[in-house]
Amino acid sequence: MSPTALFALAALLPAALGQLAGTNTAENHPSLSWQTCTGTGGNSCTSNSGSVVIDANWRWTHEGTSGGNALTLKFVTFGQQENIGSRVYLLNSGGTAYQPFDFVNKEFVPLTHHSFDVDVSQLPCGLNGALYFVQMDTDGGVAKSNGLNKAGPKYGTGYCDSQCPRDLKFIQGLANNVGWVPSANDSNSGTGNMGTCCPEMDIWEANSVSTALTPHTCTTLGQSTCTGSACSAPNVTSGTCDQSGCDFNPYRMGVTNFFGPHETIDTTQKMTVVTQFIGSPITQIKRFYVQNGVVHGNPNSTISGVSGNSITDSFCAAQKSAFGDTNTFAQKGGMSGMSSAASAGMVLVMSLWDDHAADMLWLDAPLPADQIRFFSRRDECCTGSRGTCSSSSGQPSQVESQSANAQVVFSNIKFGPIGSTFNQGSAQ
Ligand SMILES: *[C@@H]1O[C@H](CO)[C@@H](O)[C@H](O)[C@H]1NC(C)=O
Ligand SMILES: *[C@@H]1O[C@H](CO)[C@@H](O)[C@H](O)[C@H]1NC(C)=O
Ligand SMILES: *[C@@H]1O[C@H](CO)[C@@H](O)[C@H](O)[C@H]1NC(C)=O
Repeated sequence: MSPTALFALAALLPAALGQLAGTNTAENHPSLSWQTCTGTGGNSCTSNSGSVVIDANWRWTHEGTSGGNALTLKFVTFGQQENIGSRVYLLNSGGTAYQPFDFVNKEFVPLTHHSFDVDVSQLPCGLNGALYFVQMDTDGGVAKSNGLNKAGPKYGTGYCDSQCPRDLKFIQGLANNVGWVPSANDSNSGTGNMGTCCPEMDIWEANSVSTALTPHTCTTLGQSTCTGSACSAPNVTSGTCDQSGCDFNPYRMGVTNFFGPHETIDTTQKMTVVTQFIGSPITQIKRFYVQNGVVHGNPNSTISGVSGNSITDSFCAAQKSAFGDTNTFAQKGGMSGMSSAASAGMVLVMSLWDDHAADMLWLDAPLPADQIRFFSRRDECCTGSRGTCSSSSGQPSQVESQSANAQVVFSNIKFGPIGSTFNQGSAQ
């Protein structure tokens, strides 16, 4: 029985139906090694074995491929059924729990490469190859579920993020079948009454056009369950999480020729992406790129009233003010809230997705007034162009047919104290 069918069956049963381990797909946890570094300059790193598990919502699919130290996520795959996108979590060396990362005063590195088999000149607007941390439970929510979740990390359960998603088929072992409305144009998806919230640190949300580095805080640490409209903050005073985040996207900060095909950071080539979480507690988040042996810091903002090339509480206040946005990042905890979540340990997520809610315009396109309808559930959204994609780009129907072969590769993951994973040189 496919999980889709299992879920359809679950919908007919009492709401307390628990989440069982699926039997349709043999367990398959592709290995993915990553490194812990000490010392300086990336010269002293040791390898950790790990593996990835695909989220429980996608369990029946053919996932990306990994092996050694690289993970490839493919966009459209054909297993027992056509599948769009995927989302995977890093398991610990024994495969028994998600690997927690406390990144306070640490740095984190993936090497990433976007590869689009169709035609590199066709800009894949609307796709997002993402690598990020969420504060999901490392046991996949088993302990909190009162015995209802019998699946656990081996089956990719327990996801949450700062959008408090309502498309999870199970939350803490409970079928999210009450009020389940199938998506009008995504046959694999839908929305139930329950949503699942937790702090999120988006290290890397990018396509070949634009990239964003974004902390999202929540007033509740760890995973929490929300219901109905309370999941999507209808205004800045309600809701658990900061859905907008405090983003650093070089294009939005005025430097339009920094990141993209054949720009300073050339997205047609591999790049190493270093993110530093400086201070204990964290007070500053910095980004470096290493490409062809050259280290680049993020460019300084050229937006009037906003200075610097890193994320701090004062950068966020200035940026929100300059763009006329409410500072929900500060309202939901700011940098100290992000630091508290990090110090509790967060789980590494890698995904490749298209955006049925907002066509990914918040990442790579201008947001003219007529696109505000996409953001009715968000308090802010709509100022500053985010990239060179058109405001009519990124519609899933287009992306899925035109960029079916798109994929993202993440490799050489390294983690350690500031300065331990790479040689910063004179870059700032
Ligand atoms: C925000 O939303 C909550 C819940 O819907 C409501 O109680 C509150 O009055 C709203 N606040 C403002 C300022 O609109
Ligand atoms: C950014 O601004 C700081 C402070 O003015 C300056 O020291 C630094 O060199 C600038 N960085 C770049 C890449 O221009
Ligand atoms: C999804 O559904 C909405 C509302 O029915 C529609 O406006 C939109 O064009 C659809 N998108 C796709 C990709 O089919």
